[in-house]
Parts: sequence; C-alpha cells; structure tokens
Amino acid sequence: MRISVYAYLLLPLVLGACSDDRHDERMRAAGPNPSVEALLKVADVDAGARKFRTCAACHTITQGASDRGGPNLYGVFGKVPGQNSARYGYTAALRNAGGIWDVRRLDAWLADPKKVIPGTNMQFAGVPDPLDRADLIAYLRSQSN
Ligand code: HEC
Repeated sequence: MRISVYAYLLLPLVLGACSDDRHDERMRAAGPNPSVEALLKVADVDAGARKFRTCAACHTITQGASDRGGPNLYGVFGKVPGQNSARYGYTAALRNAGGIWDVRRLDAWLADPKKVIPGTNMQFAGVPDPLDRADLIAYLRSQSN
C-alpha cells in the first residue's frame, strides 16, 4: 500500500524530468529554415505548457487568475497588446503598440521583447530557440476561448 502511494506521487516528477520534447525530430519535420508558420505545424502544446514555467514567475494563465509582476495571459492570443488584463497597469509603450498578438508578433516578442516594443518593462531576455517559441505560442493559443 505504502509503496503504491509513493509510486503515484513520484510518477509525475519522473515523467517531467525525463520528458523529451522530440526537438530535433520536429525541427527536421518542419523543413530547412522553417517559417514561424511551419514551426507551428510541428509545435507541441504540452511542451509549451512545460516551457511556460519560465514565464510563470511573472504570469498566470488560468482564466480570471490575478496578475503577478506581469499580466494574466489567458486569452492574450489574437488580442491588441496591452488590453488583455483589465486590471493590469501596462506601460504606455505596450498600450500604444497597436496591432494584434498574432503568431508572427508573438514570435518576435518572445525572441526579444524590448526589440519589438521598446519601452516595455517585461524584464525577460527572450527565448532563443524558434521551436521553443512555437511551442509557447501554441500553448498561449490553446489557453483562450
Ligand atoms: C520577469 C517577469 C516576466 C517574465 C519572466 C515574462 N514576462 Fe511577459 N510580461 C511581463 C511584464 C511586466 C509585462 C507587461 C509589459 C508592459 O506593460 O510593457 C509582460 C507582458 C507580456 C505579454 C503581453 C501581454 C498583453 O496583455 O499584451 C505577453 C504576450 C507576455 N508577456 C508573454 C510572456 C511569455 C510567453 C513569457 C515566457 C516565455 C514571459 N512573458 C515571461 C513580465 C514577464
């Protein structure tokens, strides 16, 4: 009895630690010099959810959850920048950025936030790997209604 309880407790930890997101295999499937759109076709929502842990220091993503250092991100995909969380105090830079958070804009933002919207206070160096960004974007897109 005791053993099985521990096994259930440990299983998710082991799976999480060993999870291979098939990065190289998926990169090959996307073809040479893949566009963001091509990467989105091989993106993995579950891998994106795991990678979102880096973001979770500053962002919640559950619908209606409170803001942290950064705004709640539920439903941000497809929205106008700086409007997703009504209670959050965005910088003027983000509020006045215009356009929408589509795949290309999010990809550029996650690669280098301050380059896309100078004056933002998202203190985040960026996600260098394009497939990691695609996984994150697929996850953001899945967390909306
Ligand atoms: C150190 C804290 C921090 C981390 C880590 C962080 N962010 Fe942010 N993020 C912010 C802040 C602060 C803002 C608001 C920026 C502003 O108002 O200029 C923001 C804004 C955003 C926005 C725009 C929201 C809107 O409503 O327009 C998106 C999208 C976003 N972050 C995604 C991410 C993702 C995805 C990650 C992880 C890969 C991440 N962020 C990591 C702090 C962070």
